[in-house]
Amino acid sequence: ESPTQRVGAEPLKSFGQVTHAIPMLSLDNAFSEAELSEFDRRVRERLQMGEQHITYSAEPKLDGLAVSLLYRNGNLEQAATRGDGMTGEEITQNVRTIQAVPLRLRGNGVPGLLEVRGEVFMPKAGFERFNDTARKRGEKTFVNPRNAAAGSLRQLDPRITAQRPLAMYCYGTGQVEGTTLPDHHSAILDQLREWGLPVSPERRSVTGVEGCLEYYQKIQSRRDNLPYEIDGVVYKVDDIEQQRRLGFVSRAPRWALAHKFAAQEELTRVVDIEVQVGRTGALTPVARLEPVFVGGVTVTNATLHNEDEVRRKDVRIGDTVVVRRAGDVIPEVVNVVTERRPADAREFLMHTRCPVCGSEVVRVEGEAVARCSGGLFCSAQRKQSIKHFASRRAMDVEGLGDKLVDQLVDEGLIDSVADLYRLTAEQLAALERMGEKSARNLVDAIETSKATTLSRFLYALGIREVGEATAAALAADLGSLDAVKRADEERLQQVPDVGPVVAAHIVRFFQQPHNIEVVEALIAHGIHWPAIEHSAAQDKPLAGQTFVLTGTLHRMTRDGAKALLQSLGAKVAGSVSKKTSYVVVGDDPGSKLAKAESLGVEVLDEAAFIRLLDEYGMTP
Ligand code: IVH
Repeated sequence: ESPTQRVGAEPLKSFGQVTHAIPMLSLDNAFSEAELSEFDRRVRERLQMGEQHITYSAEPKLDGLAVSLLYRNGNLEQAATRGDGMTGEEITQNVRTIQAVPLRLRGNGVPGLLEVRGEVFMPKAGFERFNDTARKRGEKTFVNPRNAAAGSLRQLDPRITAQRPLAMYCYGTGQVEGTTLPDHHSAILDQLREWGLPVSPERRSVTGVEGCLEYYQKIQSRRDNLPYEIDGVVYKVDDIEQQRRLGFVSRAPRWALAHKFAAQEELTRVVDIEVQVGRTGALTPVARLEPVFVGGVTVTNATLHNEDEVRRKDVRIGDTVVVRRAGDVIPEVVNVVTERRPADAREFLMHTRCPVCGSEVVRVEGEAVARCSGGLFCSAQRKQSIKHFASRRAMDVEGLGDKLVDQLVDEGLIDSVADLYRLTAEQLAALERMGEKSARNLVDAIETSKATTLSRFLYALGIREVGEATAAALAADLGSLDAVKRADEERLQQVPDVGPVVAAHIVRFFQQPHNIEVVEALIAHGIHWPAIEHSAAQDKPLAGQTFVLTGTLHRMTRDGAKALLQSLGAKVAGSVSKKTSYVVVGDDPGSKLAKAESLGVEVLDEAAFIRLLDEYGMTP
């Protein structure tokens, strides 16, 4: 337990992956009393409790990062981030440096295996101190404690994490072997505390909606005085047997609710409305604001989305506006205080020429977005596409930040993403504010990024409408870059989540000679990925099977069922054909049931469907 025991290990090259044996769920949100009452009503109805009150465990909703800790025989063996809920990153070395986290459990009855889940956060005081020091040293500061916690846990070198004032509160469990935990959530938290794990001292058992509201108000009134940031409270049905009966829907349990504090709003003045050019040429009007402190950060810009939105809200330069910031989302202009409009307030006019490259601006009929037609001739689009390519979830080129990309393009060192792989340490070291060591590190990072996965690569290309999920689906289904390039729109639409619009964007992308050139140059520079993704897809238990869902399901939503099936490798189609393996039928099925019967396709009712999911460990 001594501090020196906590940081033992050497820096990592990258984080390993951890698959959560039990998915880490998220929470449904409520913003009003009415939504809370509705939640409570649904709970009582499902449990057939009539007017009887439910006991809830009420806890602050901490604003940090969800992590899972695995204790084997009482020893901390592994720690992981939530990630997408199914797979997270292994951050054991870093979590070991958090003083609040015991390396060894104490007390009686410590189970053979205990997975604890909770929130890692940076207390407000530590956050202020950290930023003060960073400011004095001219180093990077964090905008809020939540980002600070996330940034600190994402360090490859645990010695850096060890210097960050992180803390943790546990709020639940995952896998448990070798003991039976208490039958109420509140008692489980008490038990965790006895084993030496930190749990929130603010947790309370409350009764019914009234008890929840009372708790909510009390915590809200103390919010500013709490030593850490919270963004609401969480209510959980306390009785574990009741939790089990309620189950969950797709990504969130039916037995818990996050009751969020209202978004924070402030007044400020619009100094100007500028236009930003995005990766796909989209022109976004952005309000430049007089700096204002909202929801824990100083806001100087707010997106106005598009021209129509500016008209609808009638935002003019010089206006006083209400700015809102909720959670981590981009600040937005809620409305204009028209009474305060000055006589010289100016209306915003969308540019007819791109403010960066001067190309014509086009707005396709029926679309809200105006776009620069310059394509990769436009340096703004080039910059954005390079930033996207290098970003963490794409090629993950560490150290290639936005400012540096701007600099590289402006200096004419790179024109396309392929040019990154031609950069030399000498060229980089000659840049302003770049030392020899940083230059070398960047060249190394660029080199490291060459080993990637097909899905990251497809995502990195920045094809319109191809986000991470679609890229992953394309990689899993088509298996190789060649197959993606060759696929026509019809084939692409067989990929889960790919509709006609996305299919058309993909085909168009690979028809452009310029894009082909860049892709070929990238491959020639040595970008590569393991060719296993396709076989991995085929190894999944339901690979090659096609499901059709029809009617209302009770234990899950249609989207939830689809996601579960896809994660098992199945395809989910919209219509029944001879090739359909199963039709899953809920209440009030449409004509698809008749079609299935006429074609002799196997039909599963909800119970049979759940048994099938159960067989593969996917209980909804
Ligand atoms: S329970 C199955 N309890 O909120 C329930 N979550 O919006 C899973 N969070 O990912 C979560 N404080 O990171 C729970 N007292 C609390 C929490 C809490 C903060 C976070 C957690 C989760 C997110 C969901």
